[in-house]
Amino acid sequence: MDFPKKYDIIIVGSGIAGLCVSLRLAKKGHTVGIITKKSSADSNTNYAQGGIAAVTSNTDGIKLHVQDTLEAGDGLCNRHVVEEILKDGPKGIKTLIDEGVIFSQLEDGRISLGKEGGHSKRRILHVKDMTGKAIEEALLNAVSADAQIETLEHYFAVDVITTDKLKRSNPDIKCANRTVGLFVFNINKKCVETFETKAVLLATGGIGQIYQFTTNPSIATGDGIAMAYRANAIIENMEFIQFHPTALYSQQKDRFLISEALRGEGGILRNLEGEAFMERYDDRRELAPRDVVARSIDTEMKRLGSEHLWLDVSHIELKILKHRFPGIYNYCKARGISIDKDWIPIVPAAHYLCGGIHTNLSGETNIKGLYACGEVACTGLHGANRLASNSLLEAVVMANRGASSLDQYISQSNNFTLDLIKWIDGDLESSDERVILTHNKEELKRTMWDYVSIVRTSKRLDRAWSRLENLEKEINEYYWNFKVDVTLLELRNMITTAKLVVESSQKRKESRGLHYTLDFPYKLENIITTSIQIK
Ligand code: SIN
Repeated sequence: MDFPKKYDIIIVGSGIAGLCVSLRLAKKGHTVGIITKKSSADSNTNYAQGGIAAVTSNTDGIKLHVQDTLEAGDGLCNRHVVEEILKDGPKGIKTLIDEGVIFSQLEDGRISLGKEGGHSKRRILHVKDMTGKAIEEALLNAVSADAQIETLEHYFAVDVITTDKLKRSNPDIKCANRTVGLFVFNINKKCVETFETKAVLLATGGIGQIYQFTTNPSIATGDGIAMAYRANAIIENMEFIQFHPTALYSQQKDRFLISEALRGEGGILRNLEGEAFMERYDDRRELAPRDVVARSIDTEMKRLGSEHLWLDVSHIELKILKHRFPGIYNYCKARGISIDKDWIPIVPAAHYLCGGIHTNLSGETNIKGLYACGEVACTGLHGANRLASNSLLEAVVMANRGASSLDQYISQSNNFTLDLIKWIDGDLESSDERVILTHNKEELKRTMWDYVSIVRTSKRLDRAWSRLENLEKEINEYYWNFKVDVTLLELRNMITTAKLVVESSQKRKESRGLHYTLDFPYKLENIITTSIQIK
């Protein structure tokens, strides 16, 4: 292989955000490298069931969508950002339709619109209950047909190379800090390669794997957040972890998502006594915003000492369940639950990060040439609690906006070149005590679940911090001394991400949206964004 491998832009992650940007930039003639640590279809997008929120009906309006988003965000959304992104919603939907996504329709040919918590109107476009999968398949087809895009599967992005980093070994570099490359671990060859690029887009999705129970796939280890943080990017609002109220309860650790759209069609939450308890917590009952529903479930489980609650959809017509929710229907059936007769055992699980890498409305971070898009980014749309199904919309709208900005940036960067360095590996071969890393991972996930979950206290956060500090010391020792591998690289990113969540949570001395602490059970008048950057 040539040293170094070169692209105009490298995109890390192959979900909706990364794929949409790659297609736009390839059309402009730029060379695009997509890096993905597993296979291309392994992304958070693939697991999105409910759908994508956008105003597409005459009875709805952008103002209503804005109002619902601001209300769910509990005072922390950036109104201008909300208005700009939601206004572009219908255009974002058209982008997906143009790429081949076929949204579910009613019998009369109109688009079928679902309802989810916090929405005052039916506005969720969907492909049955497998919306993310359908979007991912359409975009991957388009990407594989484009010769300007090279997809590198089983490559793990380790760190962004910036000129500030290079200055440490080469004081002759005088330019203002900018992105010039990426260190990438070739998983099959077991070596780190240097890639040269004019810009990097981080589109790595979420962080759910830092929790013991999550609806996210195994790839969601916070890689993009940790990489951006190490590159000196600003990381915001990390305390706002959205717990999905209804994941399927099982004795195993996996948590299959039971879409909120089922509650939109009339699903009822019941406690173990069979009581439909939500009316005791909120007038909107099952369709209150997610933070309210998840907290109510948590309270109810603690009150009755139960390991799970129930979701009852048995009164919904079998035809609707089978036709609209085939994924959930079949998944439950295979596990002995007939959802048209049996109540579904559910628990909350870590689902979505509302904070992330700070970007503006063009997807730019504070580092020249470093962009972020999708769940990994914090644009200001979600505030303290994301409105259901606003995330796929944000990803596609911001991908369109980011691609325009990147097109200009790449064209202006044509004359900038710099000699990059090779990666220096640790001396030692893999230790036979690597089982320690597995234990560290389990401890990290348990710590986050036990101490940094739906209901928090200052004491629990302090406990989490001191445990994470100890774990970090051990993980760093491995990182600096041994040859890297995927387990180690992921764990290093998970510990950084977990610490960012705890530090942000400690900074917020109030309860707002998804951050609820018994020590400060009220909202402060002075609304702050928590922001962390390496000094
Ligand atoms: C769901 O289908 O409930 C998930 C949708 C989302 O997280 O927005």
